[in-house]
Amino acid sequence: MVATNSPLASTAGLEILRAGGNAVDAAVAVGFAMAVAYPEAGNIGGGGYMIIRLADGRSAALDYREVAPGAAFRDMYLDSTGNLTKMGIVGRAASGVPGAVAGLTAALAKYGTMPLDKVMAPAIRLASEGFIVDSALAQSVLEKDTSIRRFAGAEIFLPGGKSLARGSRFVQSDLAETLRRIAREGAPAFYRGPVAELIAAEMQRDCPQGVGERQRASHGCGIITTRDLAEYRPVWREALPTTYRGYTLLSMPPSSSGGITVGESVNILEAYPTLPRFGTAEYFHVVASAFQLAFTDRNSKLGDPAFVNVPIAQLTSKDYARRLQHTIALDRHTPTAQVANAREGSETTNYAVVDAQGNAVETTTTLNSLYGSGVLIRGAGFFMNNQMDDFATVPGKANQFGLVQGEQNAIAPGKRMLSAMSPTVVLDQRGKVLLAVGGRGGPRIITFVTQVILDVIDNRMTLADAMSAPRIHHQSLPDTLRYEQGGVDDATLGRLKAMGYALKTLGRVEGSLTAIMRVPRGYEGIIDPRSAGAALGY
Ligand code: DON
Repeated sequence: MVATNSPLASTAGLEILRAGGNAVDAAVAVGFAMAVAYPEAGNIGGGGYMIIRLADGRSAALDYREVAPGAAFRDMYLDSTGNLTKMGIVGRAASGVPGAVAGLTAALAKYGTMPLDKVMAPAIRLASEGFIVDSALAQSVLEKDTSIRRFAGAEIFLPGGKSLARGSRFVQSDLAETLRRIAREGAPAFYRGPVAELIAAEMQRDCPQGVGERQRASHGCGIITTRDLAEYRPVWREALPTTYRGYTLLSMPPSSSGGITVGESVNILEAYPTLPRFGTAEYFHVVASAFQLAFTDRNSKLGDPAFVNVPIAQLTSKDYARRLQHTIALDRHTPTAQVANAREGSETTNYAVVDAQGNAVETTTTLNSLYGSGVLIRGAGFFMNNQMDDFATVPGKANQFGLVQGEQNAIAPGKRMLSAMSPTVVLDQRGKVLLAVGGRGGPRIITFVTQVILDVIDNRMTLADAMSAPRIHHQSLPDTLRYEQGGVDDATLGRLKAMGYALKTLGRVEGSLTAIMRVPRGYEGIIDPRSAGAALGY
């Protein structure tokens, strides 16, 4: 079973499974196919995380997050008057050093069974022969038209100045050539040689004359060098385990905040013998409070473990979670300011693959915003990420997701920016894969993934119901309870308001998930009804 946001990428994964590949072979095939068929988030110019659970009981977590280039520094996006510029979000200066190619090839080398050229063949075919543009792709290009238009992607994605037309055939020759090189030579084809040189050259393009080294980023000039690329390495980590009511969640440890924050949330909720009935104000109150408490820790205590001390043992402890649960008032919201004091001292995609042996791979990858920084590498045909905005570009001030993060996540050269990506595999009491889930939506990834897990374990929903059930979101700051329009009835909203919540709706699509769950006769794959995609199996 393969579940992704792109029907063409799901087909690529299925092709590899049918040819005898395992879940890792298929996941890598999907990763490269997404870079072609789902360019808003699928990528080779970004990074991600992968959780692998093998049928023999081994598990692994792969961190192929971008890193800050060597010339990065804490205040690099501030102008001469100390104001934050937009250069960490749009343009050449917004990119971290991409990790996707290093990550996907490392996963294949360690746990795959097929050669790289074989798993990349579907992606290369999609790029060189092209595919028919569907309404999801046409719409997403239209949405990002202004940032794509400014850079080399305009020639490919806005032919004749117009957004890709639904129903037209879309060929990406430069990208096909880049992928062919990678298929032939492996990751070095991306991190050294012609592709690396094209990336480094793109960084220099259009940079105003006479801009000093320390002013480059605030003027939108790129800073990634061939040396940064040559030095990039993915990191194998231990999947972070959290037990929850007899099940085990395997999720992503830092540099993502996903595993710790999902884990802390469910640990807090486990302190309730049972949760209030789904859909009631009491239910949303305890779930939102758990998120608020967990995000308060996330935003101040987490960062790249290679640079800062992360109190993992404390944040994942059941005792600590119980103490936090005691602070949740029965019928009243506690303002975040009080929570934080008491304690002191838009785009990504996810895919899941499960093979016939029961091996499971859960991957989230992103350019950060749709089409990343908007910058397409001329001659190589792919978009660069704008992941630098996931750092606290100004500690204490909100980023594009409204996240207020601290010094732990300040910019430093070679550091990974804190992520919310939460690829998670849930094991049943016998250690067998029950559920693989993950998604997009910045900080909403954490709260949405947690809610699907609660829906399956506590609320006894089928996966289809869990994936369409209304969701809420709380991220500590802003101190607002977000809910889906139409998902919470007026009486419940009234009760939540009376409890002291500031309420705000979630936009049409602020996050969406893909998931696979074991069912009595096999596996069921479900794509969030809030997004496009396809779950395919055989
Ligand atoms: O790593 C993160 O947490 C973000 N860069 C994810 C961005 C995202 O999910 C955007 N999608 N809607």
